[in-house]
Amino acid sequence: MTSRPLFRVLEPTAPAVADATIHIWFNDQPLGVPGGRSVAAALLAAGIQRFRATPVSGAPRAPYCMMGACFECLVEIDGIPSRQSCLVMVKDGMRIRSQEGARDLPPPADFRLPQSAEGNAHGH
Ligand code: FES
Repeated sequence: MTSRPLFRVLEPTAPAVADATIHIWFNDQPLGVPGGRSVAAALLAAGIQRFRATPVSGAPRAPYCMMGACFECLVEIDGIPSRQSCLVMVKDGMRIRSQEGARDLPPPADFRLPQSAEGNAHGH
């Protein structure tokens, strides 16, 4: 059985720009990827197959729809979590990390525990 690539590159409109290799970081590893496309497409072209892990089971996930509908492609880009990598254009020097589980949410600026919740059930 012969294997065929999952993706085929369409005829580029500006080949010199679209296919020029740029350099990014993925999980602290340097990676040369084709430019002129989304982060998801660039990572897939470089052979990356695991973009994130589910919050409950930790199952590996990867892009599915490539159009912003499924949220399977979430990664951290330049320190910002939960970015849809299929909707962000890849840029030279980007630092991308796989997203492990749920992202951390900072508490709102005016967040304060209710008085009764500050101690434990025994008032300690
Ligand atoms: S691949 Fe579906 S939202 Fe990005």
